[in-house]
Amino acid sequence: MQPPDLGIETTLVHGDRTAASGSAVTPPIYQTSTFAFSDADAMAAAAQTPTFERFYTRYGNPNHGAVERILAAIEGGEAAMVSASGMGAISSTTIALTGAGTHVVAQRMIYDGARALLSRVLSRFGVEVTYVDQHDTRAFAAAMRPNTRLVMLESPSNPLLGITDVAEVCRIAHDGGALVSIDSTIATPVNQRPLELGADVVVHSATKYLGGHSDLIAGVVVSSRELVARIWETHHILGSSLGPFEAWLLLRGLRTLEMRVERHNHNALTVARAMEAHPRVTRVYYPGLDLHQGHAIAKRQMRGFGGLVSIEIDGSFDDARDVIDRLALFASAASLGGVESLVAQPAAMWPSSSTSADARAMGIIPSLLRLSIGIERAEDLVADLNHALGG
Ligand SMILES: Cc1ncc(COP(=O)(O)O)c(C=O)c1O
Repeated sequence: MQPPDLGIETTLVHGDRTAASGSAVTPPIYQTSTFAFSDADAMAAAAQTPTFERFYTRYGNPNHGAVERILAAIEGGEAAMVSASGMGAISSTTIALTGAGTHVVAQRMIYDGARALLSRVLSRFGVEVTYVDQHDTRAFAAAMRPNTRLVMLESPSNPLLGITDVAEVCRIAHDGGALVSIDSTIATPVNQRPLELGADVVVHSATKYLGGHSDLIAGVVVSSRELVARIWETHHILGSSLGPFEAWLLLRGLRTLEMRVERHNHNALTVARAMEAHPRVTRVYYPGLDLHQGHAIAKRQMRGFGGLVSIEIDGSFDDARDVIDRLALFASAASLGGVESLVAQPAAMWPSSSTSADARAMGIIPSLLRLSIGIERAEDLVADLNHALGG
């Protein structure tokens, strides 16, 4: 038993004591697809139990359990479930909580894959969706229908760090009889705990900050015991199960989550302020800046503002591309949330949306750069950016 009220830093290190084996300080990797039972009765009994940590690895595995206990604790949920990717977590959650004839209200600015799941997959199975501006709580209320079962949020959202008033939107959704899922990947549980704000389900791409080292693909769902069991029912049928080694790597990454996120927060704020002052940067998106559209709400519902900063360069698509090519410390790569700094040009990553009026209207302009600020020395990152921008 753990003492109550452990700090997040302590839970990250000690929250999975049951996973230790004998005198090994680090848990072993249960690199096995299946588990043997002493006799047929024991196997039949295990097949009836709702927790499947030692039955068949598509159902669960001790390496999953270790991560799930920590994530449930640090998100303030009753239970958690890991999956093979963030999209695995989003897909299982969305499919489990909707069905033919139901309606979803989703932020227009949500991860591209989540939008594709709604618009290109679930639309074929009779699920309708209405997209709304995440900043406009009245738009959420207006979009609710009698058959709305799910409201899908992402805050801060990628790539413009839009902030949703989570408590207010949860109140609107619950009044209308819908559940709320939120992608909290960019915040992490260190900076934001959406279940405390009223959300029903939190999902993460654990590929990002939770893993933290750009060496694994994984996803997480955290919620009540009942909802995690419901989502798991769909998840183990869809089959997006996390490999034991990836779960073990994720656990290792989680040990240092709090320290890493503190540094990401510090570095990103330093970079955002420096970029605000740079003559070639026309706009900076970072929820920690006073001028950011969602700053007041972010201050209320977040403890730190995260490691993602987006900037608009005074110039064209090609000018922004030239800035990327002059950067020495920032690798030009998709993804975010690792210890190393990365840069991406959203208009180049999502060429189909970059040309659409929608993307423009949402603020994704050709010269926008998304910076995933790592844990290097902040001054080195600022100097690299200044050099690349020609300042
Ligand atoms: C905010 C957000 N949610 C979900 C995902 C999907 O995660 P994964 O790539 O682990 O499936 C991503 C990936 O970029 C993301 O940025």
